[in-house]
Amino acid sequence: MCGIVGCIGVKNPVEYLIEGLKELEYRGYDSAGIAVKDENEIKVIKAVGKLKNLEDKVKKSGLKNPEFGIGHTRWATHGKPTEINAHPHRGAFSAVVHNGIIENYQEIKKELQKEGIEFISQTDTEVIVKLFEYYYEGDSFKAFEKTLKKLEGAYAILLITKYEDKIFFAKKGSPLIVAKNGNEIYFASSDAPLIGYAEKAHYLEDGEYGVADNEIHLYNDSQKISPYFKSLPTNKESAKKGGFRFYMEKEIYEQYDVLKENTLGRNTPDGIKFDELDREFFEGINNIIISACGTSYHAGLVGKYLLERDAKIRTNVEVASELRYREPLLTKDTLFVVISQSGETADTLETLKMAKKAGLKTLALCNVDNSSIVREADKTILLRAGIEKGVASTKAFATQVMTLWMLSNYLAQKNEYEAINEAIEVTKVDSALHEKIKRLSKRYLHGHGFFYIGRDIFFPLALEGALKLKEISYIHAEGYPAGEMKHGPIALADPDLYVVALLSKNILFEKTKSNIEELVARDATVLTVSSEYIEMTDDFIKINDTAHPMVEFFEMMLVTQLLAMEVAIRMGNDVDMPRNLAKSVTVE
Ligand code: AGP
Repeated sequence: MCGIVGCIGVKNPVEYLIEGLKELEYRGYDSAGIAVKDENEIKVIKAVGKLKNLEDKVKKSGLKNPEFGIGHTRWATHGKPTEINAHPHRGAFSAVVHNGIIENYQEIKKELQKEGIEFISQTDTEVIVKLFEYYYEGDSFKAFEKTLKKLEGAYAILLITKYEDKIFFAKKGSPLIVAKNGNEIYFASSDAPLIGYAEKAHYLEDGEYGVADNEIHLYNDSQKISPYFKSLPTNKESAKKGGFRFYMEKEIYEQYDVLKENTLGRNTPDGIKFDELDREFFEGINNIIISACGTSYHAGLVGKYLLERDAKIRTNVEVASELRYREPLLTKDTLFVVISQSGETADTLETLKMAKKAGLKTLALCNVDNSSIVREADKTILLRAGIEKGVASTKAFATQVMTLWMLSNYLAQKNEYEAINEAIEVTKVDSALHEKIKRLSKRYLHGHGFFYIGRDIFFPLALEGALKLKEISYIHAEGYPAGEMKHGPIALADPDLYVVALLSKNILFEKTKSNIEELVARDATVLTVSSEYIEMTDDFIKINDTAHPMVEFFEMMLVTQLLAMEVAIRMGNDVDMPRNLAKSVTVE
């Protein structure tokens, strides 16, 4: 997720911009920049990599008397992490920073290019400032309003122009906050940068926009409205976690917004679109190999069910650390797909190199642009999950599965637009559900281990649910195909064996239900997660009734994530940094 800052009416605007961007580093970024009005010009300074690089450039830039400005840290979603693609983007007399995705940017870009307007970046953001200058006829606010009316998608925007000592702002779908301290006005995309500079802030709602000089002039649908100021948090660390107890909790709650970003411009009423792909890339492909590790491997397993069932393409999913040493048969009609949150997992990267050496086409599903895996793969679909700080992967897994679902639809030319949106909706955490799971977790602290069971796509989810629990509670847990329990593991059944049963109403309900009955008959303690209540279960967590198994999947995913987290919290563990684990396993 990109970070945004801005300020006007401030004695030393550059200090706030740089310090504010530092407070946003935790959100992850690959480049950064600021734009200020200095000596009647808009000056833009940008740098790739760490903020220190930007700071050094600012010091050498010779700014004389910066009056006000905007700043940005970029997490690449459109276009490589380069200085040209870094924000702020500029025109002849203005500059803009933006968080979100402009869905219709290509259409706008083409229209402006026909008018002879040039573009230098690969980003969607550049169309905002070029459109503003195209509409500008002396009235900046009017040009800004006209620009906003043209944009489709999600945005948090700050724009400045050399003609007026003002900051233009707008919010739709991406967070933006404005704070006031006397005549000083500050902007940020989250609380942390504002703490210490102001005490109260207005959290913009979707559709709100306006202009700040020494006052905040706020509008919605051309009607002037008054800002509603709320107290800012006082603790920066807590603010970075969004007030949650752990980054993992924050990231679970972020899944709704992150999945909207992941599908924006891709899941459309007319079906799936990937800017990153063209159908020619898949010509001659008769089968797919997916290579990954850990949680990413579990996402790949879900992809197998979807790709074979929907796209009718034979798909094998491999644990990268096994694949790389067993001299696999790699044929050129195989699409080699690697899935990785970090893009730096050594085993996964080595299998990618092996596939490339064998002449296979390669595709990466990855969350970090410019990572080793992204640089190595022929094509990449970015997950757009933003930085994931919790070692136990949650929102990255959600976007991996969502991306695989969209890819299956894309290859099958199938349109599940509504179901995808329904699946996103169920990831919005219901506080009553979370409270129930928090209470229930006290019963599951001292057994001699867990089985997570499921069938079809719920078997990989069982594997993932078990991994989540293992990773952060240190209690042993196994994911198992529900139909396999009678082939041995059921010997473990007793009251201290905890079973989390993922009971889909839409896939093999009766069969899974009888597997639960077998376990209950042998006195195992069973927690059933389903839309359908079943009498004999010891505990029950109800999910929404839906006709689509993937909607069930995403809600059960949420339940297993929250359960693992609440058990681990009761164990007193460091949920974000579990013992023995690293966020990215860059060694073999
Ligand atoms: C998942 O919670 C773990 N953090 C781990 O299994 C992780 O998924 C695995 O190491 C793969 O990492 P990657 O997605 O960055 O390649």
